[in-house]
Amino acid sequence: MAVSFKGAHFPIVNVVGARPNFMKMAPLLAEMARHPEIRAVLVHTGQHYDEAMSTLFFQDLEMPAPDINLEVGSASHAVQTALIMQRFETVLLEEKPELVLVVGDVNSTLACALTSVKLGIPVAHVEAGLRSFDRSMPEEINRLLTDAISAYLFTTEKSANENLLREGIPPEKIHFVGNVMIDTLLKHRDQAGRSQILTQLRVREQSYGLVTLHRPSNVDCPHTLETILGALHALAQRLPILFPCHPRTREKIGALHLTHYFTHPTDGALSRGLYLYEPLGYLDFLKLMAEAKLVLTDSGGIQEETTILGVPCLSLRENTERPVTVTGGTNTLVGAAREQIIAKALEILSQPRLPYRVPDLWDGHAAKRIVQILLRNFGRVP
Ligand code: UD1
Repeated sequence: MAVSFKGAHFPIVNVVGARPNFMKMAPLLAEMARHPEIRAVLVHTGQHYDEAMSTLFFQDLEMPAPDINLEVGSASHAVQTALIMQRFETVLLEEKPELVLVVGDVNSTLACALTSVKLGIPVAHVEAGLRSFDRSMPEEINRLLTDAISAYLFTTEKSANENLLREGIPPEKIHFVGNVMIDTLLKHRDQAGRSQILTQLRVREQSYGLVTLHRPSNVDCPHTLETILGALHALAQRLPILFPCHPRTREKIGALHLTHYFTHPTDGALSRGLYLYEPLGYLDFLKLMAEAKLVLTDSGGIQEETTILGVPCLSLRENTERPVTVTGGTNTLVGAAREQIIAKALEILSQPRLPYRVPDLWDGHAAKRIVQILLRNFGRVP
């Protein structure tokens, strides 16, 4: 509902912190830049800070450098959340925004949302309402709490609207707008197509599997991590499996002496085996995903990206907060049991690709819808 027309400038503080936030924020910033009445400030909490976990994404996505970096770094959940809150409060007192916009479900999302509402500044949450119904996941707690205190809840799929309504969120706060991460994918698909990463890694299209793994439930438990690596190693006797590895996971692999599951690349085309790499930038990873025979992952975002790319995805999880990727997309939940992973992967390798459906409004225009709704609600559309 439109309110009265306010002052010329509409100051919005936008928050990113961890790798999956960057591709969600990029199209929102680009859309805000098209509206001179919006003064968009970008705050990076510094939750992720490595070149490969942060800087590369700003380059690949051509995002403006953050206006402010809180440089919190890694710490326990409590310390990280508290540090972000403390430093973000100072930013808000200085910037005096009319709105704070947060994306996703990482610690930075919740910490900044909570800081804002405590100062009486309304929060917009992009990617609201997703629920795994598994409260042992740190992200599920971040989602529940962020949604409970947000004024604008922008959802990516219909199940999210149902979850929010069930939790008593008033319907007028909920806006089904589509998926900003898919805005970014569609925009960069051609550019990613020109990436030389397949040549660099010496693999051919449709001849390899691709893995990512970083959830605490999979990598922090030695038995589970070793079971998954064992399954991947067995599968790697059928085709090369490429594993760009999150720093959390690499640390565990080193500490638990599990490097024997991996193969050293030799000269020439990559042969069968499980290969460990540093984390990749956005464009190289998108290219690798698009050309993979099969993706195995515990990431939520990759379940969505493979759905749009039509690439079969095995989720090494018992649940998903993104059910549309299973009901309509290419995603299958397999958990972390060895036989289940191998059996399902072999089934996929032996079959032609199944048809899939692009979820509603995953059309590249989600950021535009979000900015329009905000302009209207903050009285910037006369
Ligand atoms: C975080 C998010 C998770 C998201 C993931 C994507 C939370 C609770 N978790 O998990 O939802 O899916 O990011 O990557 O917010 N590290 C580095 N360099 C970095 C960042 C992290 O080496 O730039 C290492 C540190 O050892 C750190 C560990 O990774 O302790 C974990 O980082 P953290 O941000 O706490 O959680 P993630 O597992 O990355």
